[in-house]
Amino acid sequence: MVRKIGVLTSGGDAPGMNAAIRSVTRIGLNNGIEVVGVYNGYRGLLESSFETLTRTDVSDILDRGGTKLGTARLPEFKEEEIQDQCIKNLKREGIEALVVVGGDGSYRGALALTKKGINCIGLPGTIDNDIPGTDFTIGFDTALNTCIENVDKLRDTSSSHHRCSIVEVMGNHCGDLALYTAISCGAEMVITPETGYDELEVIENLRYLSDAAKKNHAIVIISEKITDTDALAKKVSLSTNFSGRATVLGHIQRGGSPTPTDRMLASRMGEKAVDLLMEGIGGHCVGIIDNEITSMPIQEALERPKKSRKQLYRLFDRLV
Ligand code: ADP
Ligand code: F6P
Repeated sequence: MVRKIGVLTSGGDAPGMNAAIRSVTRIGLNNGIEVVGVYNGYRGLLESSFETLTRTDVSDILDRGGTKLGTARLPEFKEEEIQDQCIKNLKREGIEALVVVGGDGSYRGALALTKKGINCIGLPGTIDNDIPGTDFTIGFDTALNTCIENVDKLRDTSSSHHRCSIVEVMGNHCGDLALYTAISCGAEMVITPETGYDELEVIENLRYLSDAAKKNHAIVIISEKITDTDALAKKVSLSTNFSGRATVLGHIQRGGSPTPTDRMLASRMGEKAVDLLMEGIGGHCVGIIDNEITSMPIQEALERPKKSRKQLYRLFDRLV
């Protein structure tokens, strides 16, 4: 029976990470397990930045964005010697197993530690919704709400000014945040890694919307890392009857109080993680599939093909 576990958050922060930390801590303590917070992701393992968490240490964080434990990216963690040092530090502290909240990079780290003898469970924590093995990640719903709130505001001003608002959202090579925002906000166009990008086609489409369809404004939602959004907005002003304005939502998408959906998801996933560790299982990740909390080996999740969003893109096209 596991007696002492650690919990850490890694990679980009996401609203709901605190709810996950709270869940792991409370469920652990209620099962007689000591829970240690590891500060700043894998860096905290390397620097032995540990603190035993009490019930009250995780009070008043359920509704807070960010992560109480801090997060970090530690590229050196891919190296075996660094991992071995972390294993030594964990063993010295008596930490027998670990819950890692993060993205697929963090999952790979969790798998490496499991293979070296410390059972790890991965929880999907990222606004990008790009983690295999789950329908939704912790933080996605909150970020989506932030995007929607902002795009709704942009619609007011762009329709008053006969403008085309080009709104860049995050997603790190995954179009979900853009696609869900575009459908929820009634955008005129969505550009994501899945749709591909053809500048001429975008300009043609906007010309059509302005001249033939007589639209008095247009909202274009575009995923980050596709093109220079500012330059695209300038081209729209030059080549169509809309004046183009670019808005890059940026890191505000990562902040804010988690929605009830993210609080529920994080609380349920935290519970599952502790249950798995109590069963002696490691190297698994937790997901939500068809609203059921599930788990599968990290290796299997990482090998899964990317979720298809064909039906949602079709829906978007049929709604325009
Ligand atoms: P995310 O977890 O959000 O995908 P990253 O890809 O930045 O974010 O990964 C977070 C951290 O996980 C990295 O800084 C590194 O410490 C660790 N990590 C990433 N890839 C690997 C890997 N292949 N092996 C071991 N650890 C990794
Ligand atoms: O993975 C979360 C994310 O916010 C991505 O959407 C984005 O590409 C990246 O992290 C930004 O990273 P940073 O915080 O290092 O600027």
